[in-house]
Amino acid sequence: MLKDQDRIFTNLYGMHDRTLKGAQARGHWDGTAKMLQNGRDWIIDQMKASGLRGRGGAGFPTGLKWSFMPKESDGRPAYLVVNADESEPGTCKDREIMRHDPHTLIEGCLIASYAMRAHACYIYIRGEYVREREALQFAIDEAYDAGLIGRNACGSGYDFDVYLSHGAGAYICGEETALLESLEGKKGMPRMKPPFPAGAGLYGCPTTVNNVESIAVAPTILRRGPDWFASFGRPNNTGTKLFAISGHVNNPCVVEEAMSIGFEELIEKHCGGIRGGWKNLKAIVPGGSSVPLLPGSIAREAIMDFDWLRDQKSGLGTAAVIVMDESTDIIKAIWRFAKFYKHESCGQCTPCREGTGWMMRVMERLVRGDAEVEEIDMLLNVTKQVEGHTICALGDAAAWPIQGLIRHFRDEIEDRIKHKRTGRVSAVAAE
Ligand code: NAI
Ligand code: SF4
Repeated sequence: MLKDQDRIFTNLYGMHDRTLKGAQARGHWDGTAKMLQNGRDWIIDQMKASGLRGRGGAGFPTGLKWSFMPKESDGRPAYLVVNADESEPGTCKDREIMRHDPHTLIEGCLIASYAMRAHACYIYIRGEYVREREALQFAIDEAYDAGLIGRNACGSGYDFDVYLSHGAGAYICGEETALLESLEGKKGMPRMKPPFPAGAGLYGCPTTVNNVESIAVAPTILRRGPDWFASFGRPNNTGTKLFAISGHVNNPCVVEEAMSIGFEELIEKHCGGIRGGWKNLKAIVPGGSSVPLLPGSIAREAIMDFDWLRDQKSGLGTAAVIVMDESTDIIKAIWRFAKFYKHESCGQCTPCREGTGWMMRVMERLVRGDAEVEEIDMLLNVTKQVEGHTICALGDAAAWPIQGLIRHFRDEIEDRIKHKRTGRVSAVAAE
């Protein structure tokens, strides 16, 4: 279990002084130049040893990703891009870091960039995050004024610049290659991978795209050591993690906890339990809208990490935990996700452009019970035609929640169709 002194982020225990002075009082920017002097290989090895897996949703090992960047310069500049376009429904954890701990992120940017030979870092922040952008820009200016970044950053002899760029409200610009397109001033449409960004990223140059939380934890990992970080959680699922818990709990919150904490403990300890008690728990979406839901019976046993949730055909994703009690119209909730993905599809590949519309329309009728029972399998079939057949993960993200609904709540869908026939469903209507 995580104790107060083991927490990386301050917002969780009431220390809200986000200025440089406050950050330094908490130990940030302490010995940063020394860390850089230890060398690029040392930094990357420490990150690998910590077991940190990317906190943006996919869980790709961070140290390994950094090691993909060219060891020697081939004449092209290298870039670090921080993905702060936090838009996954239910997800609001990076917002907390940028609001309350911006210096942790900026220090992480310097360390990560140094390890990957990047002299420039772009932070791409979601357009709606206006206050967070201001907080971050204020901290960047403070860091420049104090000589922590800029020419001869921290007195290390390394020149390093940070630029803040903001999006304009398109969810797809959080997909790493669409984000790069947008940064280049083009329409945010995902690119085919490979090549991965480490080979050809921003302006065709070696680039690493990392989530805010992944970068912000790096200084503490190096300062306290990879063994400390790896002492939390389970093998392959290590460290501390921000969980954003919303929905039908008594106190929704964003909280830092040890990876692999049990769902029940997480909710009891930080959220004051389920609204109406545990018997009232219907389902959870454990990792943001892209991952399939789990019914309450499985959720109560859940271990909140990448591997356990994957084994349940769900996922940790962004660790945005959406809790739904028995009052939830579960079919309508998943229809709402389907509507979101239809709206956010960039439209460049057919299975996603057409499939998200199909799925949304069938879901709309299922909400009303205005369908044939056979259409449930037809819908499932459509999700399989979309899944894995698109350029980026948005197609999968649109398909998986519906698959989860059918896997765990088929009876409820069938019941609604049958009751509609007998005139017993009238009030439920899609918006
Ligand atoms: P992905 O699995 O394709 O890639 C993850 C990362 O690993 C990327 O940076 C990719 O470049 C790198 N990578 C993967 N295989 C590689 C290889 N062979 N060589 C070099 N690099 C490699 O997943 P993706 O599409 O980046 O992310 C999908 C996830 O994003 C979803 O699971 C979802 O949970 C999450 N997401 C998060 C959002 C948020 O607001 N934080 C918004 C939308 C989705
Ligand atoms: Fe665009 Fe959807 Fe294809 Fe992604 S899967 S590239 S969002 S059409």
